[in-house]
Amino acid sequence: MSKESILVIGANGQIGSVLTGALRKEFGEKNVWATDIRAANGYEGQFELLNVMDAKAIASAVERHNITQVYHLAAILSAKGEQNPLQTWDINMGGLFNVFEVAREKKVAKVFYPSSIAVFGADIPRQMTPQDAVLKPTTVYGMSKSAGELWSQYYHLKYDMDIRSLRYPGVVGWQSDPGGGTTDYAVDIYHYAERGEDYNCFLSENTALPMIYMDDAIRATLELMDAATAKIKVRTSYNLAGMSFSPVEIAASIQKLKPGFNISYSPDFRQKIAESWPESIDDSAARTDWGWKPAFDLKKMTEDMLFHLKAKYQVV
Ligand code: SER
Repeated sequence: MSKESILVIGANGQIGSVLTGALRKEFGEKNVWATDIRAANGYEGQFELLNVMDAKAIASAVERHNITQVYHLAAILSAKGEQNPLQTWDINMGGLFNVFEVAREKKVAKVFYPSSIAVFGADIPRQMTPQDAVLKPTTVYGMSKSAGELWSQYYHLKYDMDIRSLRYPGVVGWQSDPGGGTTDYAVDIYHYAERGEDYNCFLSENTALPMIYMDDAIRATLELMDAATAKIKVRTSYNLAGMSFSPVEIAASIQKLKPGFNISYSPDFRQKIAESWPESIDDSAARTDWGWKPAFDLKKMTEDMLFHLKAKYQVV
């Protein structure tokens, strides 16, 4: 039996819903507590309503379940965040402080804090953006994640807390829907293709962005959290790469399997956000420090996505 007791905050989200299942596989059903501000959505197993803005409720969950690890996934993403910048800042930073403070007071052994490619902005090399590139994000989401990375490091240096973090690229998976991000098109497009519909993309055809398949994103998270403490040398957040592609390239990879599929382009406000981000990521620090290696490229991802979505749409 695992000695770990794990709290997932934001367990209904795109990553949280898949990560919760993976954690249950690794640590046992009874040792993973899924929580979210929204009611459980098709969840089996232990679930509690939890608002990350309610520090007392977080403390109570940590105490009641003798929590040893917290995965804090609740945040407002890049595109949605721009609709209400101050509220986004309040939630993203307020949530972080509540989780970090409870973890400090209750001596939670490990915390996972997701960061993002959104921390990058002006004055970076856009190809193979290095770990230590300057951080000048232009979205409030990116600003909150870049501040959050520094707070992760601060709590580690000041209180010796074991907080670990990844800069996720756009995450693509068939299991769950993304919400409010600039990279969401790369999930939506597969659903349209599988339903036999054309797709109108909100980014222009040659806008390349770093992306990662869900399987790789989850494995990276588990491997980072499992790694020996001495191997974790970056205490802000690790660059993480899977693949990189533009809308025209993902459409071409879909057309190989679905020749009738068509894409058109109507860039909106998200185009400017995408243009402020890297096109590809240098994740050599993650590879060197804890052995990260992605398994999925665009071709493999497209095959797996369409295979699973086909099954999903057949059941419905
Ligand atoms: N997928 C996120 C977004 O688009 C990036 O972290 O906002």
